Amino acid sequence: MVKKIGFLVGSLRKDSYSQLVADTLNQLLPEGLEGEMILIGDLPFYNEDLETDTPPAAWVRFRQEISRLDGVIFVTPEYNRSVPAVLKNAIDVGSRPYGFNCWDKKPAAVVSQSIGAISGFGANHHLRQSLVFVNMPTLPQPEVYLASIQNLLDETGKINPNTQGFLSQFLQSFATWLNYFQ
Ligand code: FNR
Repeated sequence: MVKKIGFLVGSLRKDSYSQLVADTLNQLLPEGLEGEMILIGDLPFYNEDLETDTPPAAWVRFRQEISRLDGVIFVTPEYNRSVPAVLKNAIDVGSRPYGFNCWDKKPAAVVSQSIGAISGFGANHHLRQSLVFVNMPTLPQPEVYLASIQNLLDETGKINPNTQGFLSQFLQSFATWLNYFQ
């Protein structure tokens, strides 16, 4: 049976490197995995007061999309040494209302990138901290930190073949990781 993998991207920017990485990963998915981009830019900020019989339509849509997934890959930049607010908000929305955490037990992986040398390490690990709490078993190795992402592109603007090779190995590990849980 084909497993559905959702990609959540921590940047809303049109020319986002994170989106480029997510699109590349989606193209490189091994046989048996099917990818879907899960949009998070339209989710209202989490507010428990909106948790009524009719929560925001975007929350309902998002929670349904997450519930259908077999695994999740987060691709994120780092904002001020942490997770961009838009991505943290998506995690919060998916984790509630209390008792209806749609992330529960879904295997995950984290990819971070940066135009700098530290490669989003802070965001990567702050994100992992939240994933522990929402009970997502998260792939330990290989860790994916893409430093100086602007230098990992070929002349056409695609992720270069070396890096694609590394990303393919990561995806193989993620596919194996999924099998431990399903
Ligand atoms: C950044 N950037 C950044 N980079 C980094 O390595 N560590 C950081 O803490 C930050 N902080 C930060 C804050 C804010 C508000 C912005 C807008 C940017 C730079 C960031 O890594 C770079 O802009 C990435 O290219 C953004 O990712 P996308 O949008 O290309 O996916």
